[in-house]
Amino acid sequence: MTIPALEQIHRHASVRHYTPEPVSDDLLERIVRAAQAASTSSNLQSWSVVAVRNEATRQHLAELCGGQRHVAAAPLFLAFCADRARLDRACQLAGLSQDASTLESFLVSALDAVIAAQNAALAAESLGLGICYIGGIRNRPLEVIDLLKLPAKVFPIVGMTIGWPARPLRQRPRLPLHSVLHHETYHPIRDEDLLAYDQTMRATGIYKDPEKGWLARSAQRVQNPERPHLAEAIRQQGFALK
Ligand SMILES: Cc1cc2nc3c(=O)[nH]c(=O)nc-3n(C[C@H](O)[C@H](O)[C@H](O)COP(=O)(O)O)c2cc1C
Repeated sequence: MTIPALEQIHRHASVRHYTPEPVSDDLLERIVRAAQAASTSSNLQSWSVVAVRNEATRQHLAELCGGQRHVAAAPLFLAFCADRARLDRACQLAGLSQDASTLESFLVSALDAVIAAQNAALAAESLGLGICYIGGIRNRPLEVIDLLKLPAKVFPIVGMTIGWPARPLRQRPRLPLHSVLHHETYHPIRDEDLLAYDQTMRATGIYKDPEKGWLARSAQRVQNPERPHLAEAIRQQGFALK
């Protein structure tokens, strides 16, 4: 049974508990073909994905991603990467050389990787699989690069666990539409919307500590610099970010 795309999109919930059942090669290829079908800047397709099934590698990745158990538990892990290495070779074949020294080059490839990842997510979900994005792949990027043998100019942007959900999906409500939709010009968020959303999230029962709602959690999350080592790691991998 095929579910209409919009309905499928609105069924999304991250899945962090998986059955041990593997994801077949056929499904993996259908998922990555869907990722390839996404828009890509100038048709450069400057992204790659490393599919990891090996248990020891998943265990290692789980540790590198901040000890996230679902990374080890999911039968399949996809590492979506910005990839300018392929374009180095394409340039050589064309008798030219690539200048990927600006922030824009990195951003274009990172955007390609993320857009591809979201197509993969929707494809996987439409096949009945569950997914969870893993930003934790950027916690210790140089070690991930080493583990996955990523060459220069290939950088891990986001990971994704994929597998068969072991529990019913639990959806997280989103902010009211007008908090994110601005007509013609930008308008600031209204405090009452933030406070109402905080209540909505508390009422879901998702939070183990009901004392802390969405506001306190989000504020805590962003109060310190996020991954301050990242720019240096990206430079080390061959992107100057000028
Ligand atoms: C770029 C990105 C990185 C994320 N990183 C992680 C992660 O490292 N670990 C995790 O468990 N969830 C991660 N998530 C999932 C979010 O926590 C989740 O999407 C969010 O809480 C909303 O919940 P929902 O996806 O169930 O609607 C990530 C999501 C995105 C988009």
